Amino acid sequence: MSHFSLKVMFPLLVVLLVFVVGGVFFAATGLVTPFADATAPQAVADTLAAAPTDTSGVAQQQPLTPEQAQAVAAGETLFKGNCAQCHALNEVVVGPALNGLHKRRPVAWLIPWIKNSSKVVASGDEYAVKIFNQYQKQQMPSFALSEQEITSILTYLKAESGFAVVHAPSIALQ
Ligand code: HEC
Repeated sequence: MSHFSLKVMFPLLVVLLVFVVGGVFFAATGLVTPFADATAPQAVADTLAAAPTDTSGVAQQQPLTPEQAQAVAAGETLFKGNCAQCHALNEVVVGPALNGLHKRRPVAWLIPWIKNSSKVVASGDEYAVKIFNQYQKQQMPSFALSEQEITSILTYLKAESGFAVVHAPSIALQ
């Protein structure tokens, strides 16, 4: 009897387990989608109400340390003053779109590039030569920015890159 019930119970338990795990999985996917849809406009409204500037939106998406938040704010100002006439995050203006820049170029390359891109091109750096040719040999001006200022710009771009992807609806509202 006990031997029989074990033989029956084991597969039953396995089936039960599959249903429980599957049920949790479907409940999760089923809940997440309508939940996200239903609250998305509210979330955007909250973001706009609670966060008059882009940088606080960034802080919400991924908690920044006070130093990072400060760097993002400083970087935004520097970017708007020095770079925005030629660069945007998501479209080519004069120069390339800078969304996701931190994923394609290391900081050790970016600092000398932003200080003096023609010097990097002249050094024969493969990537620099390629992008310079790709953009019709249009020279990016050199910038007398400190390493710290450039790092702020890069921190801002990195934070905004995440922001653009995660909070796509709020981009459309801007
Ligand atoms: C007058 C236009 C202009 C300004 C101002 C300018 N850039 Fe550029 N930038 C370019 C062009 C054009 C390129 C493409 C490479 C080339 O032609 O030299 C480029 C390329 C770059 C790249 C390489 C992008 C990639 O996809 O690899 C970075 C990074 C960059 N710029 C950052 C900056 C930053 C930061 C500033 C402000 C401090 C700035 N640029 C200001 C025109 C500009």
